[in-house]
Amino acid sequence: MFKIAVLVSGGGSNLQAIIDSIEKGHLNCSIEAVISDNEKAQAVERASKKGIPTYVLDKNSYSENFGDKVLEIIDGRVDLIVLAGFFSILKGKILSKFNNKIINIHPSLIPSFCGKGMYGIKVHEAVIKAGVKITGCSVHFVNEEIDGGAIILQRPVEVKFKDTPEELQKRVLKEEHNLLPEAIKLISQGRANIINGRTEII
Ligand code: GRF
Repeated sequence: MFKIAVLVSGGGSNLQAIIDSIEKGHLNCSIEAVISDNEKAQAVERASKKGIPTYVLDKNSYSENFGDKVLEIIDGRVDLIVLAGFFSILKGKILSKFNNKIINIHPSLIPSFCGKGMYGIKVHEAVIKAGVKITGCSVHFVNEEIDGGAIILQRPVEVKFKDTPEELQKRVLKEEHNLLPEAIKLISQGRANIINGRTEII
């Protein structure tokens, strides 16, 4: 069975989408651990409710070696690390040990509206301010560059003139909930291969 760890910071609706996909039989994998950098994250509650082992790591105590702490928990136990609304930056050994085995979901069409400081509602505020007509979401591999790894899947979402950032966020999030389980499925089936910095889906 393909095994994953999910890293979270907040509401955990993407984690829920993964749990739902597994329960519906759409995704054949098991969540071995949910790790949060925020003890108040609703995501932790969602995981506990399903009997998934949860770990809360205080990001202030571990800031520089947060990745090492995560590695301690999951090394040898999982095939893939999924960042699902996880707002800390992973650094250090974990990136090389899990090279091309960490993915992240970002609520825009990378390489637009991403990078340092671009997370949460700020992304959608920037999208509206720029006046673009299409936004969306992306799942990508994680490397040392923020939102910089090879893109795996993207899905477009139309920006309506009267959208508030919150309304847009809601519509993008709905697409994220389909995209993230789909990406995990492709990887678990060995169908997403990085070639020269791009991902070929076979
Ligand atoms: C999502 O928009 C995700 O793309 C971003 O953070 C948000 C988390 O939402 N990285 P949730 O915690 O999964 O509900």
